Formats: sequence, structure tokens, C-alpha cells
Amino acid sequence: MAKELETLFIQYFYKEARPIDFYIKKMKGYTASQAALKMSQDDVIAEVKKSNLRGRGGAGFPTGMKWGFIPKVSEKPKYIVCNADESEPGTFKDRDIMRYIPHLLIDGMIVAGHAIGAQVGYIYIRGEYVREAVLLNEAIEEAYARGYLGKNIFGTGFHFDLTVHRGAGAYICGEETALLNSLEGKRGEPRVKPPFPAQAGAFGGPTIVNNVETLASIPYIINRGGEWFSKLGKLDKSGGTRLFCISGHVKKPGLYELPAGGVTLRQLIYDHAQGILRDRKLKAVIPGGSSAPVLAPDEIDVVLDIEPLMKIGSMLGSAGVLVVSEEYCVVKLLRRITKFYAHESCGQCTPCREGCQWMEDILERIEHGKGREQDISLLLDVANNINGRTLCALGDAAAGPVTSFVKKFRADFEVHIRGGKCPSA
Ligand SMILES: Cc1cc2nc3c(=O)[nH]c(=O)nc-3n(C[C@H](O)[C@H](O)[C@H](O)COP(=O)(O)O)c2cc1C
Repeated sequence: MAKELETLFIQYFYKEARPIDFYIKKMKGYTASQAALKMSQDDVIAEVKKSNLRGRGGAGFPTGMKWGFIPKVSEKPKYIVCNADESEPGTFKDRDIMRYIPHLLIDGMIVAGHAIGAQVGYIYIRGEYVREAVLLNEAIEEAYARGYLGKNIFGTGFHFDLTVHRGAGAYICGEETALLNSLEGKRGEPRVKPPFPAQAGAFGGPTIVNNVETLASIPYIINRGGEWFSKLGKLDKSGGTRLFCISGHVKKPGLYELPAGGVTLRQLIYDHAQGILRDRKLKAVIPGGSSAPVLAPDEIDVVLDIEPLMKIGSMLGSAGVLVVSEEYCVVKLLRRITKFYAHESCGQCTPCREGCQWMEDILERIEHGKGREQDISLLLDVANNINGRTLCALGDAAAGPVTSFVKKFRADFEVHIRGGKCPSA
């Protein structure tokens, strides 16, 4: 019989938050913090570099390298911030980590705090995750009660305080510098970079912002070693497992934890999620959250990892895989996605503020049979004028779907315009 795949997270997802005693007894809880606090900061960072852990928030930046950017000496306090905003449509993995194994995240944040020299950490959680915020606060209280948070942790002289900060439901506050502004009580608008957060982040101090899944991977790296973690991944550059969120028109949507780079998109859709609803044909797949460029059915033999997807013009992003059956109208889907970005644009950069709304308006008329012959080129022109011309990547996130949907499914747009209506309506 094939050996059951070892999972880091999913095997512990069960009904409610695992209490601290479960975490300690069954998951070697807080041994990572204890071990890391006895290591030098450089050694902890070296172990994380060895693990090939890459950020799970979207960009896939190597975590150890990022931690290494923090200056050793700083006049201002340093901060470790957990990005728990999880607002990319199609993404629902961080929620379950916080819901079921919050202590794993806390443990990881203590290690990260020590590695970069931060004595204060924040978990910035999206406003809609009410229950998860309550559970995290309960877990933090448990950790304080045991002396794992607060002053002089494990008698090492290291102090670390952790606070949960609730957002108010804005997608832009997932972008790390908008998040930091929001954390400081300002409008959630992205900052001009440089300076990057590692130089001047929260309250002007050197700051690392990492995703929930990234930080929850850290205790495994300390307990079992960077090399062990690296080998869980099947391609050279990506270590560990990935939590894939698969939704849309599949028979078994949900969360699947698989080795990084160890599965193709086809395997995820047909073997794990058991294929398309009502055994229909596949029409399209968005592989990395709604901002990832769409793929056509003949592209799904791609390995689900950062480089292979980049090579074919898309991205793994937050690993939110949205599957679309032939029964659904791709013009309608793109209009709906664009509406989201138009609504969530913070309005700071003109190309994004104006352009997203224009794209929505054009798509709206194409979808409803009122499109003009020149609308497709107009749409592409607007998308091209947003792409790369904004302070943050929200503009690119809105433009990428538009250009890729038109490129892959141009005929569907033309049929709407020429036929004056949606053929599948
Ligand atoms: C518009 C926008 C929204 C984002 N939303 C999230 C989010 O909800 N969660 C997240 O972890 N990263 C999000 N990111 C990426 C963060 O800016 C940042 O790169 C990430 O938190 C870094 O963590 P990592 O290195 O662990 O991946 C977003 C980026 C952009 C441009």
C-alpha cells in the first residue's frame, strides 16, 4: 500500500482549535521556540534559508532571505507581522490554520521574532474572520499563562508580546504596506517603496510581514531541520507542502495539502477534486487566486509550482485554484472578477482607480449584448495602461485576468458582441 503522505497542517484540522496541551503533547508544541531561542539569530535564519521555504502570501519570496534583510542594529523597535488578511478570492487556507492550530502560528512567530530581533508581533486578521480572531486571542492567552509569551520566555531573557489586530474588510489591506498603514490606524493605502518594510515598516521600525502559512511552517523547520523541509518539496527551489484551495465547478472542492511542486493542475482537479461537476468539460482554470492569469484546458499538465506556472504566463499566487466548467460564461466571470477589483481599488493611483471601473463598464456592456466591435481592443488598452503603473500590485491583479481571458477566450467575447447576447444564457 502506498505510504500515506505526511501533512504538516491538514492532519490536525478537526472540529475546533487545538488547545495548548494538545499542541504540546501531539505536535511537539513550543519545542521550536525553545530550541530557536538557544540558537543565534544567524543560525535560525540559515536554517530557514536551507528549508527553501517561500512565502505563501502570493509572491513566493524566499523567507530566509527576507529575514536576512532586517538590519542587525536599529534605533527603532523591530516588528514581526503576520498577514492574516486572506482576501484574495478563492483562498481559504490561512483560516483553517488559525481555526484549528493557532499555537503553531504563535510558535512560528516567536521563532521569527527572535530571528529578526523583534520583541513585538502583530497578527493582522481580516475583519470577516470573527471566530478565528476569538480563537487566536484565546490561544495567545493560553500561551501567556504558560510563560511562552511575555517577559523572559523559557528563562532566556527574550521578551515577546503578541497582539491580534482586526482589519475592517478591505482587500487592499492584504498588501503589506497598506496593512502596516492600517495597523498604525491610518487609511489602508499602499506606501511608496523603497523604503521596504524591512528597512522602515510598522511605526517606522524594521518589519517583516509574512503570511500565516509561511509562519506556521517555521516550527517544522526548526524541529526537523531545513533540509528535511526542503526535501518535502519536489522541485529544487520550493520546500515544504502547499495548501491548495480548490473551488468552483469540481465534485470535491476543498483544501488539499500536497508536496510543493509534486502535483500537476490536472491531477489536482481530476484525481483529488474528482473532476468537473456533472462530468462536463473543463472550460478554464485560474490557478493562484482570482488575480492569476487564466489557463485554458490544454495547459493543465503544468506542475503546480511557482516557476512552472510563471513559465506559461500565470502564477501560483496564493494557491487558490478556481475551476470553471463549460457551462459557465467566461465573460460573466471576468466581469465579476473585475467588479471585485474595481470595488477594492483604494483609489490612490489614477490608472487603477479609473481603469478598473472602465474595464468593469466595458465588460458589463459586452456581457449584456451591448458591446461594440472596438470594445475588445479598448479593454486591452485600458488593462495595458494599468499594468505596472501603480504603487502596488492591485492594478496588475486587475489587469492580468483581463488580458489573459481575452487572449485565451477571445471568441467568447466576439460572440457576445456580434450576437448581441450571451450564447449560454
Ligand atoms: C492587493 C494585494 C493583496 C494581498 N493580499 C494578501 C493577503 O491577503 N494575504 C497575504 O499573505 N499576502 C497578501 N499579499 C501579499 C503581501 O503584500 C505580502 O507579499 C505577503 O504578506 C508576504 O508574506 P510571505 O512572504 O510570507 O508570502 C497581497 C498583495 C497585494 C498586492
